[in-house]
Amino acid sequence: MSDEHAGTTVDDARPNPEGTRLGELWSILPEESSVGPDGVLQIGGAPVTELAQRFGTPLYVYDETGLRRQIRRFVDGLRERWPNSEVLFASKSFPAVGMYRLAQEEGLSVDIAGGGELRLALAAGVDPARLHFHGNAKSDAELSMALAAGVDTIIVDNEDELDRLERLLERPQKLLLRVIPGVEAKTHASQATGGLDSKFGLPMDQARRAIERMRAHPLMEFEGVHLHIGSQILDTAQFAEAVAKISSAGSFSSYDVGGGLGVKYTYDEVAPGVDEYLDAIVTAAKAHLPEGARLLIEPGRSIVARAGVTLYEVTTVKRTGRVFVAVNGGLADQLDAALTGQRFEAVLGNRVLDPWTETAQLVGRQCESGDLLVDQAPLPAARVGDLAVLATTGAYGYTLANNYNGALKPAIVFVRNGEARLVVRRETYDDLLSTHAPAIEG
Ligand SMILES: Cc1ncc(COP(=O)(O)O)c(C=O)c1O
Repeated sequence: MSDEHAGTTVDDARPNPEGTRLGELWSILPEESSVGPDGVLQIGGAPVTELAQRFGTPLYVYDETGLRRQIRRFVDGLRERWPNSEVLFASKSFPAVGMYRLAQEEGLSVDIAGGGELRLALAAGVDPARLHFHGNAKSDAELSMALAAGVDTIIVDNEDELDRLERLLERPQKLLLRVIPGVEAKTHASQATGGLDSKFGLPMDQARRAIERMRAHPLMEFEGVHLHIGSQILDTAQFAEAVAKISSAGSFSSYDVGGGLGVKYTYDEVAPGVDEYLDAIVTAAKAHLPEGARLLIEPGRSIVARAGVTLYEVTTVKRTGRVFVAVNGGLADQLDAALTGQRFEAVLGNRVLDPWTETAQLVGRQCESGDLLVDQAPLPAARVGDLAVLATTGAYGYTLANNYNGALKPAIVFVRNGEARLVVRRETYDDLLSTHAPAIEG
């Protein structure tokens, strides 16, 4: 199977009418995207207009076929290069029960961070022996839940956590230790986690002491080290650098080198493919890590981002100082644009073949000027009722969804061979009010 995931391949069979940048858009829309003769975008064989009508908007839509294919690129690609290996899905990127289940079906183990993700994974039927528990501030209660569930590995972040484990452990438990590799990832500051001032993990000198503690404890099965240098990283040399640095922590039976592979979000961005990424990591592992050690990776964004789009209905078009196209969602369901400045691209899903004649501010409905989904989006002249489709929103969109201005979190559908299935229902006003019952009833 070819490694076309990162938008490096444009399918020439797809239209690219004059006055659009559709040729490039196909490389950031889900793999199973097409357009009907009526100019309506189809995801996984289903017209987006029908999905919007049936499930409402805003709506998170996933191309299930493309998603499964992308998972297999990671699982098969790593196994071929380094047989003693494991790919964990970093579930924070898309923590939906339907996704946990799909991940396990396709051969992924799962990285969870916190009691909530543990509950979601268990509800999905994920085998606890495939769960790896992360977090820089795990509580006693969360550690107890994880131990009771029988998670495979706990990734220890600090010595306070070791104090907790000393109190809580009643049987042997596999552990990794998160170390700070000292690699400043070239990404947004909030997404860089491997620099010397990171809040995650321990610097190498302190790591040695923590390792001694674990090795001395009868119930702690210390297996090796973990690192994660950050997210949306487009330079694969940085992953190789991290692998080289972690080898100085010592010789162990396991090395988890984290996630972080970046994806192509915009027409002009270039992102490495899965093969290029795996080549970089495994070449570094062969050079620096003990032969036969277990190698783990934890991709999140690069598995799910491209497979997902978000559908919005255009509610207002204003041609004032600028052209404002406002939709019925915004930073409540797509926080990354405001939080990290992530650039997305948009298309009118009901008019894909119309020439793009206007440069619009695609804005949301939350009460912030920073609620800007796309700055200067090239679009046809938008009309009320059009369907705006934001591409490459499969990662961290649902994760970061919130109730700003009383917004209801959107539903999620998976689409395959033209069939859509609901995996998360839309929040209701009753859901919104339910936690306020003490005040309402009091
Ligand atoms: C420990 C850890 N592993 C993996 C990931 C996944 O990163 P990404 O979604 O960029 O692949 C994260 C995300 O921040 C993380 O904190």
